[in-house]
Amino acid sequence: MKILILNGPNLNLLGTREKTIYGSESFDQYFEELMRVFPDFTLEYFQSNVEGEIINKIHEVRFSFDGIVLNAAAYTHTSVAIRDAISAVDIPIVEVHISNVHKREAFRHTSMISASCVGVIAGFGLDSYRLGVEALSKMNQDK
Ligand code: DQA
Repeated sequence: MKILILNGPNLNLLGTREKTIYGSESFDQYFEELMRVFPDFTLEYFQSNVEGEIINKIHEVRFSFDGIVLNAAAYTHTSVAIRDAISAVDIPIVEVHISNVHKREAFRHTSMISASCVGVIAGFGLDSYRLGVEALSKMNQDK
């Protein structure tokens, strides 16, 4: 399977950003581990702080990848445009969050994108991404 890990704004600062919430590992370090967990999969990683670039990436991979694990970060709570991009493509997209957004501020309890995604995983730290890949793998096997 070919899966894109797509990260939104401020996730380039993982490892140094609000460590008590997001941990002290950088995403580059974690991504190395993730690739070792799924040696038979092609995993690619893209991060952007720019809403339009996230949308462009979803469009770009829609025929060449089997699924996306998406942490839209703060855009989760605001972006109708990312929601529409998810709805516009046929590949499955799993919404993931490192933190349990439902234990946090009220504005994080609303997701613009959940209804367009195949499912949501939140609160397992960086392991949320592995669970997202597992979910896409299982969906693919059940096809
Ligand atoms: C996040 C949760 C969002 O509310 C926040 O804006 C982020 C990260 C998470 O992974 O826990 O940037 O998506």
